[in-house]
Amino acid sequence: MLRVGVIGVGTVGTSVVNILKDNADIIRARAGAKIEVVSGVVHNLNKDRGVDIKLSNDPMDIINDDSIDVVVELMGGVEEPFKVVKAALEKGKAVVTANKALLAYHRYELQDIAKDIAFEYEASVAGGIPIINALREGLSANHIESIQGIMNGTCNYMMTKMMNEGVAYEDILQESQDLGYAEADPTFDVGGFDAAHKLLILASIAYGIDAKPEDILIEGIDKVTLEDISFAKEFGYTIKLLGIAKRDGDEVELRVHAALVPEDEMIAKIDGVMNAISVIGDKVGETLYYGPGAGGDATASAVVANIIDIARSGKSSPMLGFDRSLENGLKLKNRDGIVSKYYLRLQVADEAGVLAKVTSLFGDHKISIETMLQRPTGENAANLLISTHSAIEKDIQNLMVALEKLEFIASAPVMIRIV
Ligand code: HSE
Repeated sequence: MLRVGVIGVGTVGTSVVNILKDNADIIRARAGAKIEVVSGVVHNLNKDRGVDIKLSNDPMDIINDDSIDVVVELMGGVEEPFKVVKAALEKGKAVVTANKALLAYHRYELQDIAKDIAFEYEASVAGGIPIINALREGLSANHIESIQGIMNGTCNYMMTKMMNEGVAYEDILQESQDLGYAEADPTFDVGGFDAAHKLLILASIAYGIDAKPEDILIEGIDKVTLEDISFAKEFGYTIKLLGIAKRDGDEVELRVHAALVPEDEMIAKIDGVMNAISVIGDKVGETLYYGPGAGGDATASAVVANIIDIARSGKSSPMLGFDRSLENGLKLKNRDGIVSKYYLRLQVADEAGVLAKVTSLFGDHKISIETMLQRPTGENAANLLISTHSAIEKDIQNLMVALEKLEFIASAPVMIRIV
């Protein structure tokens, strides 16, 4: 029998206990052993969790229980779970976590501590979608050319509502929190940080890149307006919050931002709280993974799969899937060097000479305009909608600063990258 302790018996923890009970027969057949959650840890012992296990409010009760084989960490946060997980590994216990923020900061240290002790984290990226397994196992014969996708259900739900129903950003945030997908602090969702945590985990498996959130380009959806959404639709695009990892020679670019995606792309058709991740391997070509990126049962499905895997072998391959440097020399590309096409919207005074000044600034910054359209917005005012050919991020950032200083610009210029 495999004995499990769950630290954090909230929505996901409760589902873990229930799935192990509801599907006990098939799980036993697949695991080759009975799996039982024997105890759990919660903050508030007075709240009824509806589960029939021993509860305490001290994680060390589980760490110090020699009868427990596997510690499931569902606490959330970074430093506190790091201490707990480290203590569990030092005691020789296998660990399963769904904690993407923990891994975004400490995955390499944890791999070093774990060595050949099983440390699994399927639920940390895209909830119920087995994307970690796909990268670590299914695609392990490939060089990964890119990973691109929708990694945050809350943002995708909000963007879908804005695109399809014209609901304003402020009106939809509370609604999306009510769905129960949002992080405890929803700025992690709308600011792009949650997606960045997941992207960093995938980038470690695919490329061995040891980066922290602070090292990469992270923008959220908080500046996307209904006006830009309406223009996007008119021009055949949808707007999505994307996580993008892309190999370019011996560099890998990592970025999270809202992006204009052509509406006939598969990723553009993913609506609501769903996640979808496209992975391109040099041998396999494009593969796409779609499913629920959050929710109690979906996330617990991934957690339980990891526990079953541990029951089968008692060990795992190295945590990130490799035990020596991957492809020597791959390094993180500086965010200033990212190359993309861009959409810009400028609210300008509709006067003689304005267009000439704007376009000459583009030229000064070595940015080539691909398309341009002027839409009047009232008397003596207009929106200038400009898309660029491929340009360098640093040049665009400098251009934005220069544009904002023009006396006839009515509000801060809007920039959205095009993929
Ligand atoms: N807040 C996340 C989301 C939950 O909305 O996708 C899963 O990590």
